[in-house]
This record gives sequence, structure tokens and C-alpha cells, in this order.
Amino acid sequence: MTLAQAQAKLQEYGQEHLLKYYEELTGEQQEALLAQIAATDMSILSAGQNKETAVQKGVITPLAAMELDEIEANKESFTATGIEAIRAGKVGAVLLAGGMGTRLGSDNPKGMYNVGITRELYIFECLINNLLDVVRQADAWIHLFVMTSDKNHEATVNFLTEHDYFGYKGEYVHFFMQEMAAATDYNGKIYMESKYQLSTSPNGNGGWFVSMKNNGLLDLVHKAGIEWLNVFAVDNVLQRIADPCFIGATIQKNCVVGSKVVRKAAPDEKVGVMCLEDGRPSIVEYYELTEELMNAKDEKGDPAYNFGVILNYLFKEDSLEQMMASNMPLHIVEKKIPYIDENARLIKPEEPNGYKYEGLVLDMIHQLDSCLPFEVVRSKEFAPIKNKTGVDSVESARALLQENGVIL
Ligand code: UTP
Repeated sequence: MTLAQAQAKLQEYGQEHLLKYYEELTGEQQEALLAQIAATDMSILSAGQNKETAVQKGVITPLAAMELDEIEANKESFTATGIEAIRAGKVGAVLLAGGMGTRLGSDNPKGMYNVGITRELYIFECLINNLLDVVRQADAWIHLFVMTSDKNHEATVNFLTEHDYFGYKGEYVHFFMQEMAAATDYNGKIYMESKYQLSTSPNGNGGWFVSMKNNGLLDLVHKAGIEWLNVFAVDNVLQRIADPCFIGATIQKNCVVGSKVVRKAAPDEKVGVMCLEDGRPSIVEYYELTEELMNAKDEKGDPAYNFGVILNYLFKEDSLEQMMASNMPLHIVEKKIPYIDENARLIKPEEPNGYKYEGLVLDMIHQLDSCLPFEVVRSKEFAPIKNKTGVDSVESARALLQENGVIL
């Protein structure tokens, strides 16, 4: 991109301030800045100005989950179907590890966090141990795709290779980087991180499939004959990955996506719940759940919106390819964004100072035709680490790991 082209683009989106230091930059820095301006999608940034209308929900109705008793009654059959799919190489796993983990506040990628007490036990290690259980059960390796971002790629790759993938087979581990998005102040003006760099952050976990494609990994998916991708978050240390029973249930029910869910602890628990939106599967966030929906009952007299998602989804791969063209909504999230002030000094704010723009994996569900919400026991499969202490923290996850017999 030439300087004139950059000026025209910036003028169109009211971002001319990004060239403020252009004249004093070295040739290399000028080039880097122009390249970043060219690569940044600025059309999305005005969304921050009408935040409330950015994501609008349709008509919400209940979507029944497959509950524990039904799962128990069919466990053998579901598990056999799942194991068969894994042995045939039809299942891959996708670890979403591109987030910044700002709430945990560690400088390293979240997966490098040591949850051990008397020994070292890293979050990545917990997850790989869980996946290895299935590898042993099925007697087959499962391709593991690891999504990182520009901010943590090198550290993640180095850590996992240095630790020999905690016993996983190296040729079955594949890294790919997600895309970045510009971060802005509350008026939609892009912050600068230095005189020649825009402030950026990972563009949310919803871009994982597009990023896999952009990084050429779908060729491998096709060649290996992978038909199902189990996407999961880095921060749930009790996460069951490529769970044969879950895979078998989703296949037998002819759904194109399965979603692990837990029974809500209380009607107002802060968790997104499965539902139908305009007749299609969807997730309604806790802050979108009206009083009326919160108190609605199903035919059994149970709460109608009672199953929260835990960021563990099984997607039919070919459905995702068909979906690619459709637009995903954008979520505008308030965050702490490092920036340079008017004297070009780098400031790391203590409080949120602007917006990040993110696509979320849960929005992919609504683009698909059928979804099986699959109940799991919270105390056995859900121990997320978001914070250092308190709710969803290192402390609470340690207690749950111990409860499940993991030596810390
Ligand atoms: P969170 O929503 O907890 O975000 O991510 P985060 O960035 O990790 O943490 P905070 O909010 O800054 O404290 C849920 C999952 O999605 C992944 C995370 O790595 C985690 O597994 N994620 C999130 C990505 O892979 N990319 C993103 O851009 C955001």
C-alpha cells in the first residue's frame, strides 16, 4: 500500500491520526505501518458507537438437552460409535489458546500456568493428559490443532516442544495463528502501541475455522479424513476432549454440532444457555436472559433454559465449510489496551480504556441447522481458570482437580 492509498483509507474511516509520526519513521518502520494499515479491517470499528444494536437477538424458545439419564442408558452404544469414528481417523481436536488471559494476569500463555502444588502440573499438561486417556481407550492418535495468536505463538510452541508435548505424539500436533484486530478508544479511534504500530489484540475465538483455513490446515483435515472437530477452551482443566460418548451421541442424533452443557447452579448464574433463536440452535448470554425466560418452565416443570455452555463443541467439518461465507456478529468488549499517549509514552492502563472487537465461537452454532446439547456432570468436567482467586479461579480448579483424583 502506498502512502496516498493509506491516507485515503484512513480518511474514509476517520483514523488519520495513525500517520501522525510517519515522517519521523525509518523506511522499514514506514513500510511496516503501511502494511498494518492495509491489513486492518476498519469497517468494523464503527460498531462500538452503537454497541447495543451490534448483536441483536431473534425470538428465543427452548432447546431440550440430552440429559444424564438418557446418556447413561445409551452409554455403551454412543461410546462404541464414538470409538469407531476416532479409530477411523474421523475426529480432530482444536485447542483454543489464542486468548490473552488478562484476568489471570500472567505474562505467559495461560496454558503455561502451573496448577501443581507439590509438583509441576501445567494447564497444557492437564489437557493433554485428558486427551491421552482417549488415545489409550481408542488405541488411536487424534490430530490436535492448537490455535495461538501473534501475542503468544512463540512462547506456546517453545513450551510444548520443550516438554515433548507432555507425551503426545509430535506429528499429531499442529499450530496455527489466529488473526488480530485493531483495538480502539471509546470513540472508535484506533490506539497506537508505538509510533509505527497499531494496538491490536486477538480477534476472538470465533475465527478459529477461518484461521485454520488461512493457515492451510484444511488440506490436512481433508487428507486425514477428519469429519468432526472438537473445539475446546484452554482454561478448563477438567475438559474431556474427543469424548467418545459425546461424539457417538452427536453422530447417532444426526446433529451437525454437539455442545457440552452443564445444569445451571441457579437461574441467574452467569453462563450462556442453549436455546433456539428464530427456530435455529443458538446461545443466549446471561445478560440477554430476560426475567420471563429465566423463569420459564418446560413440560416437566424444570427451568426451560437450564443448560449452560462450557466451550466444548463438536462440529461437523463440512457444515463449517458451507457456513464460511456467512457473516458472524461482532462482540464489542471493554478491555485494558496498552497505548502511547500524546508524548508517545507507552501507557499500560489499570482500568479498561476502550474496545476490542471479537467474533465468538458460540455464534457459529446459530449458523448451523441442528445442535445436540449434551449434559455433563459439572464437578467432573468443568473447572475453568479465569481468575487467580475466587470464582472460576486457580483455587477453585485445584479443589476440583483434587476431587477428581488428580495429584497436585
Ligand atoms: P476468554 O473469553 O476467557 O478470553 O477465552 P481470554 O482472552 O483467554 O481471557 P481474558 O478475558 O483476557 O481474561 C475463552 C477461550 O477462548 C480462547 C482462550 O484462549 C480461551 O481458551 N480465545 C479467546 C482465543 O483462542 N482467541 C481469542 O481471541 C480469545
